Amino acid sequence: MLKKIEAIIREDKLNDVKDALREIGIVGLNVFEIRGHGRQGGVTLAGRSGTYQVDMLTKIQLNIVLSDRNLDETIEAILNSAYTGKAGDGLIFVYPVEEVIRIRTRERGYDAVMYPGDIDERKGAKS
Ligand SMILES: Nc1ncnc2c1ncn2[C@@H]1O[C@H](COP(=O)(O)OP(=O)(O)OP(=O)(O)O)[C@@H](O)[C@H]1O
Ligand SMILES: [Mg+2]
Repeated sequence: MLKKIEAIIREDKLNDVKDALREIGIVGLNVFEIRGHGRQGGVTLAGRSGTYQVDMLTKIQLNIVLSDRNLDETIEAILNSAYTGKAGDGLIFVYPVEEVIRIRTRERGYDAVMYPGDIDERKGAKS
């Protein structure tokens, strides 16, 4: 089974999270900048003319499509590297993935998300 991890993390944790993922052999990923809020509904900031509310905070969304046998290890790496303990550390969503196709080679499924030297090759695994 292929899964997609969508991790919403702090902007200033991106480098730590990328390093942690590289360390365990996660190769393919993408990130983008998002804006939103969780259960606090944003933050209250102090300005010159009093306090004001910022309801949409910038976060990083990190997307990884991977084999489900690497899911727990990858989630653990993100939990450890994205953590500060303060409100706003983010959330991790996990989805099933229907199909992946590498355009150049037409490889599908596991083969399309395997990379030289990655987590699977290190484990000596074959789909
Ligand atoms: N239910 C949700 N669906 C989609 N995106 C969400 C959801 N909740 C939060 N987000 C996104 O995740 C970001 C981080 O959320 P945040 O870490 O503040 O979660 P929280 O549930 O409020 O937990 P905490 O109490 O630790 O702050 C938000 O800024 C928003 O972009
Ligand atoms: Mg919050």
